[in-house]
Amino acid sequence: QKIFVLNGPNLNRLGKREPDVYGSKTLKDLEEKLVSSSKEWNCMIVCKQSNHEGDLIDWIHEAEDEGAIGIVINPGAFTHYSYAIRDAIAGVSIPAIEIHISNVHTREAFRHTSVISPVTRGQIVGFGFYGYEMAVRALLEN
Ligand code: DQA
Repeated sequence: QKIFVLNGPNLNRLGKREPDVYGSKTLKDLEEKLVSSSKEWNCMIVCKQSNHEGDLIDWIHEAEDEGAIGIVINPGAFTHYSYAIRDAIAGVSIPAIEIHISNVHTREAFRHTSVISPVTRGQIVGFGFYGYEMAVRALLEN
């Protein structure tokens, strides 16, 4: 069972970027942990990151075309305004789970709105990197 884990803009800077908010671990740490846990979970995890909206859209399509069972996506700031990413998720038949490292609801008002959530299976916020693991496990259970 294949699962796509997609990270959006600025998440390549994890570890350096606002460590008080996002922690001191890097994107590589996150991806390596998920890939190593995938053996235990009996699934295949495909990790991708881009700072560009169109790449994320292409990968959402690709996930479906490649027979993935679901998508875990942290769209970064695109969460708050990208109707194009929302439409891409709405347009594929596989479920997507939205994840945020920080608790967006305790932060600036513009982060309280997600245009993505209405087309996802669910949203996980505020649990740091563990949220990605929660999302993968939720997709495997459902
Ligand atoms: C984020 C929250 C977003 O508001 C922000 O723009 C990010 C990261 C998170 O993981 O907490 O880039 O998605």
